[in-house]
Amino acid sequence: MNKQRFAARLFTRRFCPVNKTEIVICSDAGALARKAAEQFVARANRAMTHAGRFAVALSGGSTPKALYSLLASADFRDRVDWSRAHLFWGDERCVPPDHPESNFRMVHETLLARISMPSDNIHRIAAENEPAEAAAAYERELKNFFGLENGDRPVFDLILLGLGEDGHTASLFPRTAVLDEVKRFVAAIYVAKLQSYRLTLTLPVINAAAQVTFLVSGTSKAKIVREIFGSPEASFDYPAANIRPSEGQLTWMFDADAAKELPPSIIKKIEVVE
Ligand code: 6PG
Repeated sequence: MNKQRFAARLFTRRFCPVNKTEIVICSDAGALARKAAEQFVARANRAMTHAGRFAVALSGGSTPKALYSLLASADFRDRVDWSRAHLFWGDERCVPPDHPESNFRMVHETLLARISMPSDNIHRIAAENEPAEAAAAYERELKNFFGLENGDRPVFDLILLGLGEDGHTASLFPRTAVLDEVKRFVAAIYVAKLQSYRLTLTLPVINAAAQVTFLVSGTSKAKIVREIFGSPEASFDYPAANIRPSEGQLTWMFDADAAKELPPSIIKKIEVVE
């Protein structure tokens, strides 16, 4: 499919009723951020209507920065009742909140510093503390916030995720023990390739969400996208391929560059929505 025809489409969407997976392809990174912002607002208002509050776990990395900036902009900030929104993090680097690597800092600079919301609604991961203690503390916070009884899992209204070129998502990296976690909601893991600890929500929590949305942008992601959608065995190698909400909806939002190597079998099923 040539790039022009690809870019010409505002966005295309495919919805697979069987596994409730939706694929959205946007013409560029800007359109991707707008599409994600529209979904964020829709999910926020839906949750506030039904439950009186909106619980979202934010993604780190660079791709969601444009979304967070847009949500803080005049076009979007008044479309969310931030007094009833609760922000959590899907993962965090084990650094203080003012560290350049901090996902909290990134969200603070792009969103929090530009909107007003109750500080009690900002559920930061205290990643400056000892990793195992920070994970246990965040698990307690989830149990308190969601009022969980034994065996219940927290059900986020929305979880935003990114995709690494190695197929990792949140801080669920290939061939790490956390992928086998079935009980804990939050894990501290040492990531050898990064030579550092990370804190992350686990698969059981992510797959319990009402809506999980991947934001994937740029040519550097085209190969991993092809592999995740191209090979049924992908789930063995790529943690992101293990994101399958049990009850909820899964949406993959791509820009044209990230989607350009999607297998033809997937592309041909995509309906054009102008
Ligand atoms: C993190 C993220 C991580 C990220 C991917 C993609 O803390 O780094 O949660 O999972 O989403 O690495 O990162 P980019 O968006 O920067 O490509």
